[in-house]
Amino acid sequence: MKIAIISDIHANPLAYEAVSKSINKFSPDKIFCLGDLILGGYNPNYICEKIIELKEKMKDDFIIIQGNTDKMIANYTHELAQKVIDAFPAMGYSYMEDVKITDKKYIEFVKNLDEKKSLTLNGLKIELVHGSPRKQDENIFPNLKEEEVEKMVEASSADLILCGHTHKPCAYCLNSGKTVVNVGSVGRSMTDNGDRRAVYLEATIDKNSKFVVEHKFVEYDNILASRHILIRNFKHCEDLAKMYV
Ligand SMILES: [Fe+2]
Repeated sequence: MKIAIISDIHANPLAYEAVSKSINKFSPDKIFCLGDLILGGYNPNYICEKIIELKEKMKDDFIIIQGNTDKMIANYTHELAQKVIDAFPAMGYSYMEDVKITDKKYIEFVKNLDEKKSLTLNGLKIELVHGSPRKQDENIFPNLKEEEVEKMVEASSADLILCGHTHKPCAYCLNSGKTVVNVGSVGRSMTDNGDRRAVYLEATIDKNSKFVVEHKFVEYDNILASRHILIRNFKHCEDLAKMYV
């Protein structure tokens, strides 16, 4: 069984389309999406439309959960926007504008997503989370101490835990027997080595529950994507545009 796992598209259609092409070549039986569809990109409506289309086409073979920024968009308040502006002005102003330009039906869509999902495939227990099993916005970064990661996933009984959120792909094979894979980000990749290609995960599970996972790095026109952000012309948008390249 083949599965493609995507996360953190962040309203970036050019990155999403490039990844979709690559996924089509892989021809997976299932696709999982680990949240963060809308915030901080240039076309949230396009991404939501495509994701809903995919859900309608693949039905139960497409599973999506909610990311922390999906929840922020769904529960927008001026007070929260001000807090985000104080911490990271460009993201705060994007937050204010994204809520205005995103169709209400798409905001409702992300509002109603579950925070996590568990399933068993070929005997392998899998948990899908955005940050960690214990917290939607917890960071499973590369190069953490194994004990720290063990604590983050302590509450999960899954063999394979798939997460996103940090935009930095990584993986841990823990002493407890659990495997934790951060799939990285499609639309706002932030690898430590400066590689800004879109990232997703391909997984293959055999009949005996043995699995192989591989991060896939996909080139897209990130210069054009950064220009699209500049066209939106909200305060400090140039800071978000720069992060694409
Ligand atoms: Fe994200």
